[in-house]
Amino acid sequence: MSSAYLQCIEEGCQARQDPRREEYLCSVCGGLLEVRYDFRRFDPEAIRRTWHQRRLSGEPIDRSGVWRFRELIDFLEPGARIISLSEGSTPLVGTRRAGWWAGPVHLTIKHQGNNPTGSFKDLGMTACITRAASRDVQMVACASTGNTSSSMAAYASRAGMKSLLFVPYRQISAAKLAQALDFGAIVVEVGDTFDEAFRLLREIAPELDLYLVNSVNPFRIEGQKTIVAEMLEQRAWRPPDYIVVPGGNLGNASALGKGLRELKELGFIEKVPRIIVIQAQGANPFYRTLESGSSNLIPVENPHTEATAIRIGRPANWKKARRVLEWSGGLCESVTDEEIFEAKRVLAEDGVGCEPASAATVAGVRKLCRAGRIERHADVVAVLTGNQLKDTDYIMRHRSASEESRQRMQVEPNLQALRKALESLLAVTA
Ligand code: F0G
Repeated sequence: MSSAYLQCIEEGCQARQDPRREEYLCSVCGGLLEVRYDFRRFDPEAIRRTWHQRRLSGEPIDRSGVWRFRELIDFLEPGARIISLSEGSTPLVGTRRAGWWAGPVHLTIKHQGNNPTGSFKDLGMTACITRAASRDVQMVACASTGNTSSSMAAYASRAGMKSLLFVPYRQISAAKLAQALDFGAIVVEVGDTFDEAFRLLREIAPELDLYLVNSVNPFRIEGQKTIVAEMLEQRAWRPPDYIVVPGGNLGNASALGKGLRELKELGFIEKVPRIIVIQAQGANPFYRTLESGSSNLIPVENPHTEATAIRIGRPANWKKARRVLEWSGGLCESVTDEEIFEAKRVLAEDGVGCEPASAATVAGVRKLCRAGRIERHADVVAVLTGNQLKDTDYIMRHRSASEESRQRMQVEPNLQALRKALESLLAVTA
């Protein structure tokens, strides 16, 4: 028997919800819900050994970097069908130039772009779609800036469910849209922003009996939080000083914090890393809210940034994320599109590719170091949320004429022309 239950996060409410009813918001006060457990007593050493041993297993449930840590996401009844694509188990790679450029700090990259659909969303999606399958859901839906949609479409397809996707008109990358279409999603382009698409979806969802898989669905957070267990295991359970994520709808920051809180409560770690959220300057409602000290969200009505994944003006999970920053002594910063671009460039010099939203993390670390808010040589893990190939249009759009002339040339297919072209190209790059 699972010990899981849903509870409202609002201080003054904390009502327990009936887990047989699918609710995203508290039926008493409308607040966000989270999954809670009456954890059995853990022996952290024994559990660590079990998690480690599962890496050698051939069982699909053990090969998943989410379900390998299933003691932490104990919401399924025995024998439930797991919908997995072997997500997680992503690399932790060191950097040289990026860490030097940003600090100097000891900068390590946790690359979530190495997931089945190319983003961190797969961790949450396996949990959420598995949950949906256990309730015989036929159709799932989300509003998205692109990555949630590809992930939802893939996992829904695997589970034999239909998927319905609301995206802002012409505002998501072509690659992400193609992925969702390839996996058979029904795509509705509606509104100019994610926020508008999301509002409309939430309004219409009850009429159509849709199961929402946006990060307001608390089971998404459960899958996503396992990244901290995997990251700490890769670091021999030595917590870093800081973990940095880009902030959009703020599900990821919420998930990291929940994971760390539980690992601390269960005795896996003592020290808590400080969580840092980086937003794009044109879409920085969380940053503005925290800076002003307001107890209400200060939305951004027309969010804009080339990092389309995080172009969000009304983040649904802002209260959860604020709680995480308070608890971990975290920080929030906001960076320009130019700073994001520069950071992406420097990461590429380390051989690390990512989509623009992900590079916001490293841009933010640099800004915070320069302001003296992150100390020199600090131990920092940046979570890169999406794969480089998620937005190749961005890369091509930003290439300067001089880069093009140094790196690219069209050549007639004969040896003489080829020799001449290579001579000039190689001379320039020498
Ligand atoms: N990075 C990438 C690449 C994303 O796709 C997203 C969110 C974020 C960061 C921000 O994460 O919302 O948990 O704060 N993308 C969502 C989507 C909104 O629809 O794909 P968050």
